[in-house]
Amino acid sequence: MRAVVISEPGPPEVLSIQEVDDPVPGDNEVLVNVVAAGVNRADLLQRKGHYPPPAGAPPWPGLECSGQVAALGAGVTEWSVGDEVAALLTGGGYAEQVVVPAGQLMPLPSGVDVVTAAALPEVTCTVWSNVFDVGRLAKGEMLLVHGGGSGIGTMAIQLGKAVGAHVIVTCGSPRKVSASLELGADVAINYQESDFVEEVRRATAGRGADVILDVIGAKYLTRNIDALARRGRLVVIGMQVGTKAELDLGRLMGKRASVHATTLRPRPVEEKSAIVRSVIDHVWPWVASGQVRPIVDRIVPWTDAAAAHRAMEAGDNIGKILLRIAPAL
Ligand SMILES: NC(=O)c1ccc[n+]([C@@H]2O[C@H](COP(=O)([O-])OP(=O)(O)OC[C@H]3O[C@@H](n4cnc5c(N)ncnc54)[C@H](OP(=O)(O)O)[C@@H]3O)[C@@H](O)[C@H]2O)c1
Repeated sequence: MRAVVISEPGPPEVLSIQEVDDPVPGDNEVLVNVVAAGVNRADLLQRKGHYPPPAGAPPWPGLECSGQVAALGAGVTEWSVGDEVAALLTGGGYAEQVVVPAGQLMPLPSGVDVVTAAALPEVTCTVWSNVFDVGRLAKGEMLLVHGGGSGIGTMAIQLGKAVGAHVIVTCGSPRKVSASLELGADVAINYQESDFVEEVRRATAGRGADVILDVIGAKYLTRNIDALARRGRLVVIGMQVGTKAELDLGRLMGKRASVHATTLRPRPVEEKSAIVRSVIDHVWPWVASGQVRPIVDRIVPWTDAAAAHRAMEAGDNIGKILLRIAPAL
């Protein structure tokens, strides 16, 4: 088969389609003919040589895909050849075929076509596991999401609203502010123009946010704690601006608040499968009813994967960028 390989760490131009070995499903694994793959920030880091794939994962990028089941490994009973699926991957989605642990496959939510479905696994699993499992966001609480226009942000807004929370987002441009408000955010702060801590206090009558989903990392640690409500939960999932910062424990204790940091990719199959099951149970019905939508910014032919990476690097996207791998089924 063919895959988009990284010839050497570097700029988007190091991505090229090459012949690679056909993957073979092992026990409890499924072979998927890939139709589309989601592009994620982590793919850009991997391309630059900063985020090597975990042991056993294919060396080419791709943390999520959609397609059709092509073959079953021993012990797989819940899927059949020909099923249309989406999949949460540890890597290898930028390819004509990928092997997936059976528990990381998802049926397509009703009403979502097979190409669009590639936009769902990474954002739904990341937001669900962090905002709800870790952050325990509840109805009536205040959720602050940094990067409201991102793939993650556009899903976090919708899931926050779906549970009846209030949602505040930060964005770096008027275009992303508008998109976030259209998706249901109650308040969208342009962080280029105003201080998000002050704006969150203003929007919450001084109370602060109950849950913060952060993709910035070190640069925002202190200000995120400032923006937290009493018993607030800060969940860090990205380190776009720094990995190390000083934590004011006194301030955290005073608020009886907590800081969490997680990453989805290296988790064991059992944990990822449990998250996938939870997403299918809780999020898929909202997608089927149209309450929550996959937000696709653009679909790029996989022959131009470099253009997809350039667009994400430039912060052009609102929602997900997808690579179209195979012709229509
Ligand atoms: N830990 C995990 O398991 C996990 C899983 C998936 C994703 N992630 C992380 O989540 C983040 C988003 O991923 P994605 O795939 O959705 O990427 P994406 O669509 O490229 O979004 C990145 C976003 O970061 C925002 N941003 C940059 N600087 C900002 C700032 N100072 N304040 C607020 N927002 C800022 C950008 O918004 P503006 O253009 O508005 O500045 C952009 O929308 C990435 O950091 C990624 O690594 C983590």
